[in-house]
Amino acid sequence: MTVQFGNALPRVDGRLKITGRADYSSDVALPGMVFGRLVLSTVAQGRIRRIEVPRAAPGVVAVITHENMPRLRPLSFAQPGQTAGFAGKGFVPLQDDRVLFNGQVIAVVVAETPEQADAAARQVTVGYDLEPHRVDLDAALTELYKPGGEVDYSRGSVDDGLAGAAVVVRPSYATAINHNNAMAPFATVAVWEGEKLTVYDATQGVHYARKVLAGWLGLAKDNVRVVCPFLGGGFGSGLRTNAHSVLAAVAARMVGRPVKIVLSRAEMFTLIGHRPETRHSLALGARPDGVLTAVRHDAVQATSICDEYLDVHTKITQMLYACPNVSTTVRLVRLNVDTPCPMRAPPEASGVLALECAVDELAYALKLDPIELRRRNHADHDPRSGRPWSSKALLACYAEGAARIGWETRPIEPRMLGEGRCWVGLGMASATYPVYGSAASARAALLPDGMIHVASGSADLGTGTYTVMTQIAAETLGLPTERVRFELGDTDLPAAPLAGGSMTVASVGPAVAEACRKLRERLLDLLRQDESGAEIEETIRRPERLQALLARHGLERVEARVRTQTAGDDAWSAYAFGAHFVRVRVDRDTGEVRVTRVVSAIAAGRIVNPRTARSQIIGGVVGGIGQALLECTELDRAYGRIVNADLGEYHVPVNADVPEQEVVFVPEEDLRVNPLGVKGIGEIAIVGVAPAIANAVFHATGIRVRAFPIRPERLLEQEF
Ligand code: MOS
Repeated sequence: MTVQFGNALPRVDGRLKITGRADYSSDVALPGMVFGRLVLSTVAQGRIRRIEVPRAAPGVVAVITHENMPRLRPLSFAQPGQTAGFAGKGFVPLQDDRVLFNGQVIAVVVAETPEQADAAARQVTVGYDLEPHRVDLDAALTELYKPGGEVDYSRGSVDDGLAGAAVVVRPSYATAINHNNAMAPFATVAVWEGEKLTVYDATQGVHYARKVLAGWLGLAKDNVRVVCPFLGGGFGSGLRTNAHSVLAAVAARMVGRPVKIVLSRAEMFTLIGHRPETRHSLALGARPDGVLTAVRHDAVQATSICDEYLDVHTKITQMLYACPNVSTTVRLVRLNVDTPCPMRAPPEASGVLALECAVDELAYALKLDPIELRRRNHADHDPRSGRPWSSKALLACYAEGAARIGWETRPIEPRMLGEGRCWVGLGMASATYPVYGSAASARAALLPDGMIHVASGSADLGTGTYTVMTQIAAETLGLPTERVRFELGDTDLPAAPLAGGSMTVASVGPAVAEACRKLRERLLDLLRQDESGAEIEETIRRPERLQALLARHGLERVEARVRTQTAGDDAWSAYAFGAHFVRVRVDRDTGEVRVTRVVSAIAAGRIVNPRTARSQIIGGVVGGIGQALLECTELDRAYGRIVNADLGEYHVPVNADVPEQEVVFVPEEDLRVNPLGVKGIGEIAIVGVAPAIANAVFHATGIRVRAFPIRPERLLEQEF
């Protein structure tokens, strides 16, 4: 029986949110609470010679600079200068007088009211000893370095493959800095009771945040509690634990009162990371029939001066197509910027953008339909590992998407379709994302009121974790969802991994199912002691009978706890696959690109909730429209300052930029990936969207813009 898998249950937390009763970390108010305001550097590199803070300004209760900031302990699991990935950040705030990027925290002012803190922070004066800085990636390409670890890959001989090719394309692409820009500003409220610290934070993983905070502050893990029941978006920027969180904790200890720090929108641009700027050079060779003979992909990515953040942008290039000769590299360059962080589908969002545009360029060079080219190079097994796929429905996604967007009437030549003053084009690209999974814990309990309480210290970024976990629990127990209450976002709850890598349902889901199965067995055991037969099933469905059961056995509650192991079987290569199809209209006079239709065909295993899943895909596509056409963080070369650190000038797609979207989930049964058969959808949603748009723009105009975002002026530079 599955009544819940496939049930489009509306969000169980929806009512709380739309009535304003869901408390985000910025909503937390505690008695005696004071407010921290950060002071940021206004230069990109140098040393602080002097910093004068008006300690006597009205309402000021404390000032923290590098001069009085306690020294934090290094994190044993993320050493400065080492590849930290999302795991942590080598940069720790206020530890010395060095400034390594414009917008770095250089002081915290704590005052009785936010306004007083703000006013005092504005009066801070700083003298710097300036040092040369660099924020221009193209100007720094001579200073590339190879990061540690296995970042390069090769199989066969690309040189031989290119020599033997009938057609070769060698395109290069550039992507801009993108900012995650979660809707809700990140905020932290910290409060101490003796040696015990409680932190209300905006995070994609309370257990991970606890590990980082306890590590920095030298506290036992049990003395730190992190709470985050709601997060107003994260897109990866809530994975890392950042300066403001630990500064709130330090300030709270210093003043002996709860301290709240809410980031401004501008601070969200320099304190929590971004999708790094990249450059890509590719070479693709093919036989006349389109079969690939060689694929080379060399990527360059910017990281910060103080940290080595690395996305291996070439990972998907290694496995997406069957090709005997493949070589990929990634190099880094250090710039005076905040350390990048994961942003929805690192490294796929940037890497697949380059690969799937290059494949499109190859299709035109071969005068071959881009879908047909992809079909001819379909990888029937994982060409990187040699393993079979756990499942793969990419061909079905091509077919579904093509049928729905009307691909069969698409002319193969560009600049053939028009509508009034506009050129019209159709483009597509493949999407894929690995299936990740992690160990997780959960507990399930029958409470005296007959409700089933299920809990795991996971996160809901607005993605639907509450809803889907409620469904998984109800499904396992054979109960309606109204009988289940699911709780997350608190280190007092069983440990769950970071909500990242599209793996929450795949990781926490099996733990929730297992806990509920165990609880059900316990209840059945108890029932068998006093009842028999069909009565038992009936009793589980009736709250009053369960209450009576607890009473009969003199129990407060019946509880089951589990910890699952990492799911997945190494015999298989596990990925979700899909394809995005896009129709665009390009104004011949203004160069303005309008996306007029998107069809996304996604095969991601079992879809527990088609409503929240569809929302994920729609959101990812909106992010892809931004990446392709709008989103670009601009740095002033002279000062290294972000000049568009607000949502007025950092353009994200608004409703008027987002067309009708069609989302198709291609059915897929795959119990090899995990016991629930779910592959994850949060990130595949964006992978392939931007190249599909770029490819549609080329089909419309015959102009290949290789620098993203595709702005009107980049099209108008050429005649069309
Ligand atoms: Mo995601 S970028 O792993 O939160």
